[in-house]
Amino acid sequence: MGGKKKHKGASYTKDQQKYLKRLEKDLGQQLASKPKRLAHSLSVARTAEELAFAYGVDPFLARAAGTLHDWCKALSGDEQVALARELGVDFGVDLETVRPLLHGVIAARILPERYPELPPEVWHAIAVHTTAAVEMSPLDEVIFVADGIEPLRHDTPGIERTRSLVGKVSLDDLFWESFVGGIVYVLEGARHLYPGTVDVYNGLVAHRAERERKNKETA
Ligand SMILES: [Fe+2]
Ligand SMILES: [Fe+2]
Repeated sequence: MGGKKKHKGASYTKDQQKYLKRLEKDLGQQLASKPKRLAHSLSVARTAEELAFAYGVDPFLARAAGTLHDWCKALSGDEQVALARELGVDFGVDLETVRPLLHGVIAARILPERYPELPPEVWHAIAVHTTAAVEMSPLDEVIFVADGIEPLRHDTPGIERTRSLVGKVSLDDLFWESFVGGIVYVLEGARHLYPGTVDVYNGLVAHRAERERKNKETA
């Protein structure tokens, strides 16, 4: 996102600035043993804030959700599976097969107790940042995309393409690029594809076709 006007936190109230600092400090403790994950999280938060400004989404909520989205990555894979089981998380498949997807949902279940002042939109964005969903709010899309393109992520053709589209296409289209790029990554790496992802894909395709049809009608 080079050359773009950088927006500073000046538009936040003092309380909001303080609150964001507190979240960053808490995250620093939570991910103290995982400096790369910590740096990634803070980078997602900044990227989400920039996307929020670009697409008219609440930047404070974007920063907060971005900061906390990988909170549960402090846990080992086994611990994440155990916690997901304890919380009754249901992916419709053996949780062992979806380990990389669990941390969003479990964070969204446990963090509201710690940060009750943050609204449900934040927890939803965190819950769906790994899986996406058929119904994605603009904040959900901002967090999903920011997670995929934050500047510390190594460049791949797909990531570079999504980065190049920021501000040039709609947020829905930007999210679509990022989502499809994620699936391609899974397929090319011969990784396990969560069956729920196919349902989300098909649901999004139907939504996009419907939108296209409506656009044609009103054109
Ligand atoms: Fe994540
Ligand atoms: Fe992440």
